[in-house]
Amino acid sequence: MTVCGITARTGRADVVDDLLNGLKNLEYRGYDSAGIALQNGDGLDVYKRQGETGDLDADVRRRRPSGEIGIGHTRWSTHGAPTDANAHPHTCCGGDVAVVHNGIIENHDELRTELEAAAHEFTSETDSEVVPHLIEERLAAGDGPEAAFRAAIDRLEGSYAIVAMVDGRDAVYATRSGSPLVLGIADDGYFLASDVPAFLEYTDRVVFLEDGDVATVTASTHTITDSDGAMIVRTPETVDWNPEDAEKRGYDHYMLKEIDEQPDALERTLEGRIDAERGTVDLEAFPPGSFADVERVQLVACGTSYHAAAYAQRLLTHRGIPATAHRAGEYAETANTLEHGTLVVGVSQSGETADTLQSLRRITDADARTLAVTNVVGSTISREADDALYIRAGPEIGVAATKTFSSQVATLLLLAERMAADVDGAGSDDTSAVLSALESLPGNLRTVVDNTDAGAIARRANGRESHFFIGRDVAHPVALEGALKFKEITYEHAEGFAAAQLKHGPLALVTDDTAVVAVFTGRHDEKTLANVREVQARDAPVIAIASEDSHSVVEAADELLPIPDTEPELAGLLANVQLQLLSYHVADLLDRPIDKPRNLAKSVTVE
Ligand code: M6R
Repeated sequence: MTVCGITARTGRADVVDDLLNGLKNLEYRGYDSAGIALQNGDGLDVYKRQGETGDLDADVRRRRPSGEIGIGHTRWSTHGAPTDANAHPHTCCGGDVAVVHNGIIENHDELRTELEAAAHEFTSETDSEVVPHLIEERLAAGDGPEAAFRAAIDRLEGSYAIVAMVDGRDAVYATRSGSPLVLGIADDGYFLASDVPAFLEYTDRVVFLEDGDVATVTASTHTITDSDGAMIVRTPETVDWNPEDAEKRGYDHYMLKEIDEQPDALERTLEGRIDAERGTVDLEAFPPGSFADVERVQLVACGTSYHAAAYAQRLLTHRGIPATAHRAGEYAETANTLEHGTLVVGVSQSGETADTLQSLRRITDADARTLAVTNVVGSTISREADDALYIRAGPEIGVAATKTFSSQVATLLLLAERMAADVDGAGSDDTSAVLSALESLPGNLRTVVDNTDAGAIARRANGRESHFFIGRDVAHPVALEGALKFKEITYEHAEGFAAAQLKHGPLALVTDDTAVVAVFTGRHDEKTLANVREVQARDAPVIAIASEDSHSVVEAADELLPIPDTEPELAGLLANVQLQLLSYHVADLLDRPIDKPRNLAKSVTVE
């Protein structure tokens, strides 16, 4: 069972460099173990090992293999330890079939028992290993490689993206069902990968494979067929991501680079979508009136995207549109009956998060409309939801989500304004003021990233036993997001709370060793200030994130991370960037692997 990155390369005399590079580019999807398999004209060569792709790279280069066709895998294990044996590619008994897999094969126990009874010997604990043995079984029965691949896939239940090679055949065979797989079409051959950044530096022409597609890819041709073998024509698309956006460009970490590029990402998010003077929003595929029938909104998401959804819940509610935000893993248990007029919005950077996808799948039969808000064109959520709205943030590589949170919230604010204009009786008090503040947001974010004192404050705050983040209204999801980012990359204890909730329990934990980070937006500040005084009375040091114009806050705080004065609904976004920087600098002081925190992966494609 894995969440991971798959890659494959055809078309060059030697594909080793491109494969290893693809794995490095996909490492944000998993970094417990990695491997490649090569077709070298004299059998299949497999190199795989526990550890990061860098360890594999060093090993492979020492042994100097070459091959004209290859597949690769970087793994985030959810079941079965990250050992050499459990690393992909997996092979069959005879060693002439190699397979990489992303997803879960739910009926693997039953298949394994059947294959073991037929004298197949397994060398790993993974569910994935049944696939090469199933292919081997069909080859032995006389099927050709593609037919054997199809027959093996027909036996699988679960979610998967799979790429396989068979010795002696200059082709790779690929399919997907519920896990992402994209074909890259280059001038000199093909790539297959879980995600576009794997090969973006080589080509921007792609075909997003769909569930049930079977692709057969050689050095110079590709065919796509459906599960019955009928030919399918899928027109290649051009992705508009800049390859440089997926590179580190001199930064120590992708996370810092992605924090710094938020002003540019937001420019792209907002481009052509706002007319502040007229107070109107243009959301391309959603002309005025598109949401006139929406009576209530349910937002569903995970992690950082959930915090963006919770922020949007407030933005919609402020505009008179009933809205609730749900953690996707809990949605089935907590969602109300979906009455007519409910819009369910799935928010997901990657568009591949299994919990979020499952939440939307669960309501497809109900009388409700679904909308995906995502960063990735062609992602599963964008294809499965009724409609998709893109946040246009560009590729995000760091496991910690940063720029995509800002772009998600900005996009959801535009959506809230569009809905408020469409729905009778609902409306923002001052749409023009909010939209012109949105226009100033990229510049204000630039001010924050260029002038932050987060590094100095991190040095002074580092070493506390615990870190509490508090805020109310839109500052509450920002506090939750601040705490998530802090624990995710520093490994230090952090919790986010609604400011008013402190006195109902958590205050018992507050001591002089608890750093309290309080987020102020200019709305309800006096109440949050009262909560700050409660923790200061217990000797906890307080770092405030607020405008320097908030004199009472500035006076009360022990430390201040200032943000430019703006509309309260947008102040939360500026504050969030200070929180990202604070977490980043503390993690850096503690020498944490910031872009690849332990036990995590960027895209979690299992429930
Ligand atoms: O791709 P998604 O937005 O659906 O991902 C959801 C979460 O897994 C993700 O936001 C996660 O919480 C981040 N690593 C947090 O920084």
